[in-house]
Amino acid sequence: MTLRSEPAAPPGARIGSVHHVGRFYVTTPIYYVNAEPHLGHAYTTIIGDALCRWHRLLGDDVKYLTGTDEHGLKIQQAADAAGLHPQEFADSIAPKFAEAWDRLDIAYDDFIRTTEPRHAAAVTELLQRCYDAGDIELGTYRGKYCVSCEEYYSAEELLEGDLCPVHKRVVDDVEEENYFFRLSRFQDRLLDWYTAHPDAMVPEFRGNEALGLIKSGLRDFSVSRTSLKWGIPLPWDPDHVTYVWFDALTNYLAAVGFGSNQAEYRDWWPVDYHLIGKDILRQHCVYWPAMLMSAGVDLPKNWAIGGWLLVDGEKMAKSTGNVVTPLDLVDTVGVDGFRYYVLANTAYGHDGDFSYDGIVARYNSDLANNLGNLAARVATVVAKKCGGIGPAPAADSPLAEHAAAAYEATAAAWDIVAPSRALEATWSLIRATNSHLETHEPWKLEPGPEVDAVLGDALEALRIVTLLASPAVPGTAQTIWERIGLDGAVTDQRLPDAAAWGGYPGGRPVEKGAPLFPRISTP
Ligand code: MSP
Repeated sequence: MTLRSEPAAPPGARIGSVHHVGRFYVTTPIYYVNAEPHLGHAYTTIIGDALCRWHRLLGDDVKYLTGTDEHGLKIQQAADAAGLHPQEFADSIAPKFAEAWDRLDIAYDDFIRTTEPRHAAAVTELLQRCYDAGDIELGTYRGKYCVSCEEYYSAEELLEGDLCPVHKRVVDDVEEENYFFRLSRFQDRLLDWYTAHPDAMVPEFRGNEALGLIKSGLRDFSVSRTSLKWGIPLPWDPDHVTYVWFDALTNYLAAVGFGSNQAEYRDWWPVDYHLIGKDILRQHCVYWPAMLMSAGVDLPKNWAIGGWLLVDGEKMAKSTGNVVTPLDLVDTVGVDGFRYYVLANTAYGHDGDFSYDGIVARYNSDLANNLGNLAARVATVVAKKCGGIGPAPAADSPLAEHAAAAYEATAAAWDIVAPSRALEATWSLIRATNSHLETHEPWKLEPGPEVDAVLGDALEALRIVTLLASPAVPGTAQTIWERIGLDGAVTDQRLPDAAAWGGYPGGRPVEKGAPLFPRISTP
């Protein structure tokens, strides 16, 4: 069955479980360089990476963008404190993000820094378009500003004692001449657009929060500052630099050539998914689409909005002092152990509680006891009962149905960016295969057709598991692939055909190798 050629659907479109191959452009937030990469940053970046890996398996031409947000007051202040020019300061931190992503096996295709010329070209173009449309006007701002959020707050939004609701720090009084983006004019247009695109934001309850923000009334927001020099000057009034959020959001256009490479821009825009945390919903789901409408640019196709990883009930943040560094955890559970935990432990969209005990418990149960144990026991029995050569599966295996159901459920979950559900579906096939082995106990049988039948089916199920789990645990998937005697790279496989039952050829040497996930002992 090939599902790839219906001509009517636009590239990248999804209809039910049928996927139409096309370009697939995914972005992470760009991270402020005032802090080094922590688990909270890794969270969104790993989810985007796994989503992109899934789409590469589907045959899409994927562009995965991440990067760093380097302008604004917060960076200026951090640079001042370090005694460096902001550019030097940014240059010292940005590579740490790239290194962390490399270490975590994040296959990003582009890394944008907002201090690059291509970014300035896009910001200038977008500002000018909004200005020419009459949606940017001069005014005076008097109000409260949180530097950590780089955001103004109204009196009602602040906590008692003028504290920022996110950072719990006293906000600053600010009064200055600013240009304003007339967001208040966009309420109806935004509501109409979201009504016409009800599936644009996932999960749905987070989308409803964005709609709530729009319905509760929109205030114009400032797009420039005069008191700050570290930013991109407004093209029509260079005494002002661009407000950091207008600047930052435009990275998504800049990376595909807006204002600098029209052909590339036409190929890649609109973006398929903006992955964001719930803390930046207003800027991404309210400000950004209004800016694009004003400039006559197509709106994003989708937004996926994640919750926070909490440590002792608080958002992990440099200003809170509860930062967990991902690379420390990798030393304990490995890159794939860490990736798996991030993807599987929390239903995407909801907040999740991070704890060291939690990560070790997941590792031991799902990776050591389930996946690792299945791979090890299949290899052990093949060595003992099949002379180390993997038998072929049977066409009518009882596991075939489980495998088909696992594929459908995994694909459907990725389709709505629900990684924990995708992995749950894949792991159900691991459990079914382990219990198939326990039912038939091939280790107790004499070598012969009965043993071969059980092991052939188990190997085929393991092949499909490996494929479906590969976006989450890419290194482990490749290792298992090779150990069961398969050629090439898992990443060269194409779904859905590669997940069809019967792909394991048999007659291949199976190797046990060192334990994939040695159990971690707990006190
Ligand atoms: N620079 C802005 C984003 C501009 S995008 C045009 C910014 N940067 S940030 O570094 O402070 O955080 C970016 C994102 O990191 C958050 O929106 C969220 O996606 C992720 N996280 C940071 N801390 C987090 C947790 N503790 N838990 C989960 N994700 C969190 O905001």
